[in-house]
Amino acid sequence: AIERTFSILKPDATRRNLTGAVNALIEKAGLRIVAQKRIRLSREQAETFYGVHKERPFFGELVEQMTAAPVVVQVLEGENAIAHYREVMGATNPANAAPGTIRKEFALNVGENTVHGSDAPETAVVEIAQFFSGNEIVG
Ligand code: CMP
Repeated sequence: AIERTFSILKPDATRRNLTGAVNALIEKAGLRIVAQKRIRLSREQAETFYGVHKERPFFGELVEQMTAAPVVVQVLEGENAIAHYREVMGATNPANAAPGTIRKEFALNVGENTVHGSDAPETAVVEIAQFFSGNEIVG
């Protein structure tokens, strides 16, 4: 089925001027960017977004990194988009990412791993709604 997933091009991508290069891999994979904006995450936005990780040892550093520079938030659309984008991104830790994936190509380490993508349909709905209103998504 055609799905929508939520994507973030993280601060390590905006800092290194890689947003176009990452988008090229997204589009080459057949995913359509149906909404996109460059924003600076507030601490509150980052803490809410990553709330599921708040007890994890890396939570503080994650929030610091995600708020340290601009991000690009996106909605991607396509067949099986949620699982497909996870394949296109590659493993969370770039050391384990397959050749040709975004994280293998660009990620620096597990924290500065260039992109985020939703992990399930329920998560995608919540994540999209945190950053986009319906009329900002144009399929
Ligand atoms: P992301 O998909 O954005 O979701 C949570 C993020 O936490 C993850 O990608 C990583 O960038 C970051 N992170 C930092 N350290 C770890 C870790 N040890 N295990 C998993 N995720 C980590």
